[in-house]
Amino acid sequence: MLTVRAPATSANLGSGFDVFGVALETPADIVRVERAAETSITVTGTGSQYIPEDPDENTVGAVAEALDAPAHIRIDKGVRPASGLGSSAASAAAAAVALNELYDRGYSREELVPIAAEGEAVVSGEAHADNVAPSILGGFTVVTDDGVTQVDASIPVVVCLPETAVSTRDARRVVPAEASLEAIVDTVGHAATLTVGMTRNDPELVGQGLRDEIVTPERASLIDGYDRVREAALEAGATGVTVSGAGPGILAVCHRSARRPVASAMVDAFDTVGIESRAYQTAVGGGATLY
Ligand code: HSE
Repeated sequence: MLTVRAPATSANLGSGFDVFGVALETPADIVRVERAAETSITVTGTGSQYIPEDPDENTVGAVAEALDAPAHIRIDKGVRPASGLGSSAASAAAAAVALNELYDRGYSREELVPIAAEGEAVVSGEAHADNVAPSILGGFTVVTDDGVTQVDASIPVVVCLPETAVSTRDARRVVPAEASLEAIVDTVGHAATLTVGMTRNDPELVGQGLRDEIVTPERASLIDGYDRVREAALEAGATGVTVSGAGPGILAVCHRSARRPVASAMVDAFDTVGIESRAYQTAVGGGATLY
């Protein structure tokens, strides 16, 4: 039997829509695998009641099939589904790393990224690698048609997760089909600033680089209380705030000492609009780990 812990992730980071992603130190999914004649799946943990155990409908079932690695797979969810924290990607990433090892398939971590992304497509409909890449590789990842580029990074973040849901379908529907050249130029500048910030472990640059006027405002309008939570986080010391993935999670970047006040300001701000929430005081961290 093998056990792998794969972290939650935050995709997009504002200016890097469908391109940027980071691994978070917490929360994480734990996946245990054991060789079997046929794949079977059990799911426990946060939001497990919403996750199908039928291998044809579960992201890890598709990963097992892609690796020709039938197994009893036990998923302990630490990452809530529909949170904007790459919940299905964490399970897919953990399963890919675990089954590759269990069956000695010999794929590199980089080669496992598209395999896990295909698995994720079973539930999300589209194979985005911007969550599975950081969950497998850790740090900050850049996914393009040419492949994945990764750099280790250590940036303090707070992710605040309201007890509300945003459908990924809606979150993609509101993405504008076009943007002005001016908005694109601004976004490229912010994306470049963010990338430099990641390589320097600089929360000021990363915070500035989250800015995006193309996708984020549309996504934010689907999250009740977003503007209040954003303002509260900035007042409490965040260097930048954006929507995590497709939402409803909200990501704030800050210095280490500001994590606690930023977390409580975000929870209090959601509270003022009658929404309960939970804040994770975490950081950009490592990828999937084999126990
Ligand atoms: N980058 C994609 C999106 C995947 O924002 O829709 C999010 O999980």
